[in-house]
Amino acid sequence: MGEKLKIGVLGSGSGSNAQSIVDAIAADTLDAKVVCVLTDVEDARILERAAKHGIPARYISGAPYKTKLEGEAEQEYIRVLKAHGVNCVVLAGFMRIVKSAMLAAFPNRVLNIHPALLPAFPGVASWKQALEYGTRVAGCTVHFVDENTDTGPIIVQRAVPVEPGDTPETLHARIQVEEHKAYPEALRLLAGDRLRIVGRRVEIHPAQ
Ligand code: GRF
Repeated sequence: MGEKLKIGVLGSGSGSNAQSIVDAIAADTLDAKVVCVLTDVEDARILERAAKHGIPARYISGAPYKTKLEGEAEQEYIRVLKAHGVNCVVLAGFMRIVKSAMLAAFPNRVLNIHPALLPAFPGVASWKQALEYGTRVAGCTVHFVDENTDTGPIIVQRAVPVEPGDTPETLHARIQVEEHKAYPEALRLLAGDRLRIVGRRVEIHPAQ
Protein backbone atom coordinates (compact mmCIF):
# COMPACT_ATOMS: atom_id res chain seq x y z
CA MET A 1 0.00 0.00 0.00
CA GLY A 2 1.23 3.50 -0.79
CA GLU A 3 1.37 6.67 1.22
CA LYS A 4 -1.61 7.52 3.44
CA LEU A 5 -4.31 9.54 1.67
CA LYS A 6 -4.02 13.21 2.49
CA ILE A 7 -7.19 14.72 1.17
CA GLY A 8 -7.78 18.31 0.09
CA VAL A 9 -11.49 19.01 -0.36
CA LEU A 10 -12.70 21.66 -2.80
CA GLY A 11 -16.31 22.71 -2.31
CA SER A 12 -18.61 25.64 -2.98
CA GLY A 13 -21.61 24.89 -0.80
CA SER A 14 -22.95 23.03 2.18
CA GLY A 15 -20.14 20.51 2.44
CA SER A 16 -22.29 17.52 3.38
CA ASN A 17 -20.07 15.24 1.29
CA ALA A 18 -16.96 16.60 2.98
CA GLN A 19 -18.74 15.89 6.27
CA SER A 20 -19.41 12.27 5.26
CA ILE A 21 -15.70 11.79 4.55
CA VAL A 22 -14.66 13.37 7.86
CA ASP A 23 -17.23 11.17 9.64
CA ALA A 24 -15.96 8.00 7.94
CA ILE A 25 -12.41 8.82 9.03
CA ALA A 26 -13.58 9.50 12.60
CA ALA A 27 -15.48 6.19 12.60
CA ASP A 28 -12.30 4.39 11.48
CA THR A 29 -13.92 3.12 8.31
CA LEU A 30 -11.61 5.19 6.10
CA ASP A 31 -7.86 5.37 6.59
CA ALA A 32 -7.14 8.92 5.41
CA LYS A 33 -6.85 12.47 6.65
CA VAL A 34 -8.59 15.61 5.42
CA VAL A 35 -5.71 18.08 5.56
CA CYS A 36 -7.40 21.14 4.08
CA VAL A 37 -10.64 22.50 2.70
CA LEU A 38 -10.71 25.19 0.02
CA THR A 39 -13.71 27.07 -1.30
CA ASP A 40 -14.40 29.64 -3.98
CA VAL A 41 -17.46 30.95 -2.09
CA GLU A 42 -16.60 33.29 0.77
CA ASP A 43 -19.46 32.31 3.08
CA ALA A 44 -19.86 28.65 2.10
CA ARG A 45 -21.09 26.43 4.92
CA ILE A 46 -18.26 23.99 4.19
CA LEU A 47 -15.95 26.49 5.97
CA GLU A 48 -17.95 26.20 9.19
CA ARG A 49 -17.89 22.44 9.02
CA ALA A 50 -14.11 22.44 8.55
CA ALA A 51 -13.62 24.84 11.46
CA LYS A 52 -15.72 22.61 13.69
CA HIS A 53 -13.33 19.75 13.01
CA GLY A 54 -10.16 21.84 13.26
CA ILE A 55 -9.37 21.36 9.56
CA PRO A 56 -7.46 24.25 7.96
CA ALA A 57 -9.87 25.94 5.55
CA ARG A 58 -9.63 28.91 3.23
CA TYR A 59 -11.58 30.91 0.73
CA ILE A 60 -9.64 31.46 -2.49
CA SER A 61 -11.38 33.45 -5.18
CA GLY A 62 -11.70 31.86 -8.60
CA ALA A 63 -11.98 35.26 -10.33
CA PRO A 64 -11.94 36.40 -13.05
CA TYR A 65 -13.61 33.18 -14.18
CA LYS A 66 -17.05 32.05 -13.00
CA THR A 67 -17.32 28.41 -13.97
CA LYS A 68 -13.74 27.19 -14.31
CA LEU A 69 -10.56 27.17 -12.25
CA GLU A 70 -7.75 28.41 -14.40
CA GLY A 71 -4.80 30.79 -14.49
CA GLU A 72 -3.55 32.49 -11.31
CA ALA A 73 -6.41 31.25 -9.14
CA GLU A 74 -5.73 27.69 -10.21
CA GLN A 75 -2.02 28.11 -9.40
CA GLU A 76 -2.92 29.42 -5.95
CA TYR A 77 -5.18 26.44 -5.27
CA ILE A 78 -2.40 24.07 -6.35
CA ARG A 79 0.17 25.91 -4.23
CA VAL A 80 -1.99 25.73 -1.09
CA LEU A 81 -2.92 22.07 -1.67
CA LYS A 82 0.76 21.16 -2.10
CA ALA A 83 1.72 23.22 0.97
CA HIS A 84 -0.66 21.03 3.01
CA GLY A 85 0.88 17.86 1.58
CA VAL A 86 -2.29 16.88 -0.28
CA ASN A 87 -2.00 13.77 -2.44
CA CYS A 88 -5.69 13.42 -3.30
CA VAL A 89 -8.03 16.21 -4.40
CA VAL A 90 -11.70 15.62 -3.65
CA LEU A 91 -14.19 17.79 -5.51
CA ALA A 92 -17.35 17.87 -3.41
CA GLY A 93 -19.87 20.32 -4.77
CA PHE A 94 -17.12 22.51 -6.28
CA MET A 95 -18.95 24.55 -8.90
CA ARG A 96 -16.00 25.03 -11.26
CA ILE A 97 -14.41 22.89 -13.91
CA VAL A 98 -10.84 22.08 -12.98
CA LYS A 99 -8.35 22.29 -15.82
CA SER A 100 -5.17 20.58 -16.93
CA ALA A 101 -2.74 22.24 -14.49
CA MET A 102 -4.62 20.79 -11.49
CA LEU A 103 -4.86 17.37 -13.15
CA ALA A 104 -1.13 17.45 -13.96
CA ALA A 105 -0.30 18.44 -10.37
CA PHE A 106 -2.27 15.45 -8.99
CA PRO A 107 -2.22 12.77 -11.71
CA ASN A 108 -5.11 10.28 -11.33
CA ARG A 109 -5.74 11.74 -7.90
CA VAL A 110 -8.56 14.19 -8.56
CA LEU A 111 -12.01 12.77 -7.80
CA ASN A 112 -15.48 14.20 -8.24
CA ILE A 113 -18.99 13.29 -7.18
CA HIS A 114 -21.82 13.87 -9.60
CA PRO A 115 -25.50 13.64 -8.63
CA ALA A 116 -26.56 11.37 -11.52
CA LEU A 117 -25.77 7.98 -12.97
CA LEU A 118 -23.22 9.10 -15.56
CA PRO A 119 -23.09 9.26 -18.50
CA ALA A 120 -26.71 10.34 -18.07
CA PHE A 121 -27.29 13.96 -17.11
CA PRO A 122 -23.86 15.58 -16.92
CA GLY A 123 -23.70 19.27 -16.02
CA VAL A 124 -25.71 21.16 -13.41
CA ALA A 125 -28.79 20.24 -11.31
CA SER A 126 -28.72 16.67 -12.66
CA TRP A 127 -31.41 15.49 -10.25
CA LYS A 128 -33.73 18.05 -11.86
CA GLN A 129 -32.75 16.87 -15.31
CA ALA A 130 -33.56 13.26 -14.31
CA LEU A 131 -36.93 14.28 -12.89
CA GLU A 132 -37.87 16.31 -15.94
CA TYR A 133 -36.76 13.52 -18.25
CA GLY A 134 -38.94 11.04 -16.35
CA THR A 135 -36.35 8.42 -15.42
CA ARG A 136 -37.45 5.79 -12.88
CA VAL A 137 -33.99 5.57 -11.36
CA ALA A 138 -31.56 8.31 -10.40
CA GLY A 139 -28.35 8.21 -8.42
CA CYS A 140 -24.79 9.39 -8.05
CA THR A 141 -21.35 8.69 -9.47
CA VAL A 142 -17.87 9.08 -8.03
CA HIS A 143 -15.29 9.27 -10.80
CA PHE A 144 -11.75 10.26 -11.58
CA VAL A 145 -11.63 13.67 -13.18
CA ASP A 146 -10.27 13.97 -16.70
CA GLU A 147 -9.95 16.84 -19.16
CA ASN A 148 -13.66 16.95 -19.96
CA THR A 149 -16.74 17.55 -17.83
CA ASP A 150 -18.19 14.56 -15.92
CA THR A 151 -16.52 12.06 -18.27
CA GLY A 152 -13.70 10.49 -16.23
CA PRO A 153 -13.42 6.77 -15.34
CA ILE A 154 -16.15 5.69 -12.94
CA ILE A 155 -15.26 4.33 -9.49
CA VAL A 156 -18.59 3.95 -7.65
CA GLN A 157 -22.25 4.44 -8.57
CA ARG A 158 -25.28 4.18 -6.32
CA ALA A 159 -28.86 4.23 -7.54
CA VAL A 160 -32.08 5.52 -5.95
CA PRO A 161 -35.67 5.22 -7.15
CA VAL A 162 -37.53 8.24 -8.42
CA GLU A 163 -40.79 8.24 -6.43
CA PRO A 164 -44.19 9.52 -7.53
CA GLY A 165 -44.61 13.08 -6.28
CA ASP A 166 -40.87 13.74 -6.07
CA THR A 167 -39.78 17.35 -6.31
CA PRO A 168 -36.21 18.32 -7.27
CA GLU A 169 -35.57 18.81 -3.55
CA THR A 170 -36.87 15.42 -2.38
CA LEU A 171 -35.02 13.59 -5.14
CA HIS A 172 -31.78 15.45 -4.46
CA ALA A 173 -32.10 14.66 -0.74
CA ARG A 174 -32.51 10.93 -1.55
CA ILE A 175 -29.49 11.05 -3.86
CA GLN A 176 -27.42 12.81 -1.20
CA VAL A 177 -28.02 9.99 1.28
CA GLU A 178 -26.30 7.69 -1.24
CA GLU A 179 -23.58 10.24 -2.04
CA HIS A 180 -22.59 10.15 1.61
CA LYS A 181 -21.94 6.42 1.27
CA ALA A 182 -20.44 6.54 -2.22
CA TYR A 183 -17.64 9.04 -1.58
CA PRO A 184 -16.23 7.28 1.50
CA GLU A 185 -16.54 3.96 -0.37
CA ALA A 186 -14.56 5.26 -3.38
CA LEU A 187 -11.91 6.77 -1.12
CA ARG A 188 -11.66 3.51 0.83
CA LEU A 189 -10.88 1.71 -2.43
CA LEU A 190 -8.31 4.34 -3.36
CA ALA A 191 -6.74 4.30 0.11
CA GLY A 192 -6.46 0.52 -0.10
CA ASP A 193 -4.64 0.84 -3.45
CA ARG A 194 -7.36 -1.26 -5.04
CA LEU A 195 -8.13 0.84 -8.11
CA ARG A 196 -6.48 0.49 -11.53
CA ILE A 197 -7.51 2.71 -14.42
CA VAL A 198 -7.58 0.67 -17.62
CA GLY A 199 -8.68 2.93 -20.46
CA ARG A 200 -12.18 4.13 -19.57
CA ARG A 201 -12.69 1.46 -16.98
CA VAL A 202 -11.66 1.28 -13.36
CA GLU A 203 -10.75 -2.21 -12.18
CA ILE A 204 -11.36 -2.93 -8.51
CA HIS A 205 -8.76 -5.37 -7.20
CA PRO A 206 -9.20 -7.57 -4.14
CA ALA A 207 -7.86 -6.31 -0.83
CA GLN A 208 -4.29 -7.48 -0.15
C1 GRF B 1 -23.83 17.20 -4.39
O1 GRF B 1 -25.12 16.82 -4.77
C2 GRF B 1 -22.82 16.82 -5.42
O2 GRF B 1 -23.12 15.63 -6.10
C3 GRF B 1 -22.87 17.98 -6.37
O3 GRF B 1 -23.05 19.10 -5.53
C4 GRF B 1 -23.67 18.71 -4.31
C5 GRF B 1 -22.77 19.13 -3.19
O4 GRF B 1 -23.35 18.94 -1.93
N1 GRF B 1 -21.69 18.00 -7.21
P1 GRF B 1 -22.50 19.19 -0.59
O5 GRF B 1 -21.91 20.59 -0.66
O6 GRF B 1 -21.45 18.14 -0.49
O7 GRF B 1 -23.53 19.09 0.49
